[in-house]
Amino acid sequence: MNTEKIIVTAALPYANGAIHLGHLAGAYLPADIYVRFQRLRGKDIIFICGSDEHGVPITITADKEKVSPQVIIDRYHEINKISFEKFGMSFDIYGRTSSKVHHETAKEFFLNFYNQGLFSEKKTMQFYDNKANMFLPDRYVEGTCPNCNTDGARSDECENCGALYNPSELKNPISKISGEKPELKETSHWFIPLNKFQDRLQEYINDRNLRFNWKENVLQYCKGWFHDGLQERAITRDLDWGVKVPLENADHKVLYVWFEAVLGYISATKELFSHRGQDSSWREYWQGENTRYIAFIGKDNIVFHAIIFPAMLMAWNDGNKDKYILPENVPANEFLNFEGRKFSKSRNWGIDVLEFLNHFEADSLRYTLALNLPELRDSDFSWNDFQARHNNELADILGNFVNRTMTFVHKHFEGKVPQLGKLSERDVEMIDILNGYPVKIATLIEKYKLKDATLEVMNLARLSNKYFNDSEPWKTLKSDKEQCGTSLNISLQAIYTLAGLFLPVIPFTSQKIFRMVNSRPVEWENMGKSNLVEGHQLGEPVILFKKVENEMIEEIRLKTANAESDVKKEPESELITIDDFSKVQLRIAEILSAERVKKSDKLIKLIVDTGSGKRQVIAGIGKSYSPEELPGKKVVIVANLKPAKLMGEESQGMVLAVENEQGILNVVEVDSSISNGTKVK
Ligand code: 2FM
Ligand code: ZN
Repeated sequence: MNTEKIIVTAALPYANGAIHLGHLAGAYLPADIYVRFQRLRGKDIIFICGSDEHGVPITITADKEKVSPQVIIDRYHEINKISFEKFGMSFDIYGRTSSKVHHETAKEFFLNFYNQGLFSEKKTMQFYDNKANMFLPDRYVEGTCPNCNTDGARSDECENCGALYNPSELKNPISKISGEKPELKETSHWFIPLNKFQDRLQEYINDRNLRFNWKENVLQYCKGWFHDGLQERAITRDLDWGVKVPLENADHKVLYVWFEAVLGYISATKELFSHRGQDSSWREYWQGENTRYIAFIGKDNIVFHAIIFPAMLMAWNDGNKDKYILPENVPANEFLNFEGRKFSKSRNWGIDVLEFLNHFEADSLRYTLALNLPELRDSDFSWNDFQARHNNELADILGNFVNRTMTFVHKHFEGKVPQLGKLSERDVEMIDILNGYPVKIATLIEKYKLKDATLEVMNLARLSNKYFNDSEPWKTLKSDKEQCGTSLNISLQAIYTLAGLFLPVIPFTSQKIFRMVNSRPVEWENMGKSNLVEGHQLGEPVILFKKVENEMIEEIRLKTANAESDVKKEPESELITIDDFSKVQLRIAEILSAERVKKSDKLIKLIVDTGSGKRQVIAGIGKSYSPEELPGKKVVIVANLKPAKLMGEESQGMVLAVENEQGILNVVEVDSSISNGTKVK
């Protein structure tokens, strides 16, 4: 059997804006930690990323700036590439989906599927802008929702009420390009029958989960899709920007961006090996029997990586002799917020990576983000936490331990590793701790528990500091020089171990430490052993972390707080009389049962007991609650609301809820002793 190979991919960010800290915490830092760890284990691994340069997100940005999409992708490809480099991302290649190899690869997949007879071609009605002479993608049309009458609804979906409809039902449609009323025109597209893959996809995910333990958030998400049933999905669009559909009579049609973007991982690998002069070696990875493939992404990309991409690879494998491997795991993270709120470019809330790194070191950011990774749920970045982690942990624990040990050895042992003498109980204990650490951390990283892994390595720095204190070398220097040398020898081995185990998280610092001890990292498994031999000449000590002062934090906080003034203010509302208010009947109702409304991740169908009978209420709380959590809750409903249909389901009332800063809804609840039907006054 060939030796094991590993492919790690990190989602290809759209080249239509600068990446921010949320992106780093979602997909990139976890991927980099994992890859650096596997490299230290001596694994044969490639790390692939690049820019996603097609699709409506790019053309919308170009339209806004009145420049061509090419200008946008060139600009942001460069900015993001540099941002990643400065942050210490160790990609083997940062490719682009505008490359020739990518276009060829995407067309090859499309044609292969086409020739297999996999697609169905269907005619649909789509908005067309006569002035701009183009079909309008969904996000280019706005109108009034046919269901709830809210303005600003998209051509086939209302974000306000969650309704899905045909474009022909949208009221008062307006083209966002010309501002004119678009007309509906027939167009045809190719569809991939995902429904035909559902059983195999479910089996595949079950199997990989059993063997490799998928994350719960990813499993739940996929379950939702399978529960609703996979549908045929259009994989072409009427646009001029993208990979052209490689068929006759398909002018002005391109491949749907998600169909080709995931193939960007494969095309970037081809480029990587062609740069290395090994044109066909990419196959040893993507088509190797003994390759593990791990795809790091943020939660908004789950369906594309855990369902659509595997389905595409299965489809290829069905019709071809050369078979692709499927992802072993898709460890998606949730989202990172910034000071309690969602990152928002339009509201100027958050901070770009380059801007951040103009003020602070990459490792301080990597360490703070690693401890705040949204591995299980959304998490938060705050300036106070950043400053505290940097000052109290990186500087005061790790930096201080390295510095005091190094200066002591330089002052009293000529900068050479002292001899190991007779071992005390404390010495033996510390040596055992060091020996056991690499396996302990490896186990966590293999389970994608990167936050815990980072915490644990800092704990080792704490233990090392304590060991140094308890050994009191400044005392034994005079009373027992051999004992003094022994504790310094062990402290130096601890520095070495820390440099090695911290390398995946804070690689720049780790490099500095290895330079200080004048050595290099050994394989991960041996990182806790006595790697610095007696008499070895150390390098010069340097200060690893300067304190981050309050003024520095205040300065950057001011720069990134512009958003506050931009936040929409509540409009002054007209005053109402008590009579107006009493028109609204608020009553207590108990939730008896709850289930998701089909094809909606937002709506939940509730059956409630209003004291005078049962009612069905459709509530838009599906992103904040799972149905299981709801039965038994006593909530407040608007009891005299005119019934309305939401996604085909009748709603006889409304449940009151409040939204927090993260957009999470909390239903208003009362004590279980209050009887159903009680009036709220
Ligand atoms: O969410 C995004 O930024 C997408 N451009 C990710 C694509 S990942 C893969 F498909 F290329
Ligand atoms: Zn609506």
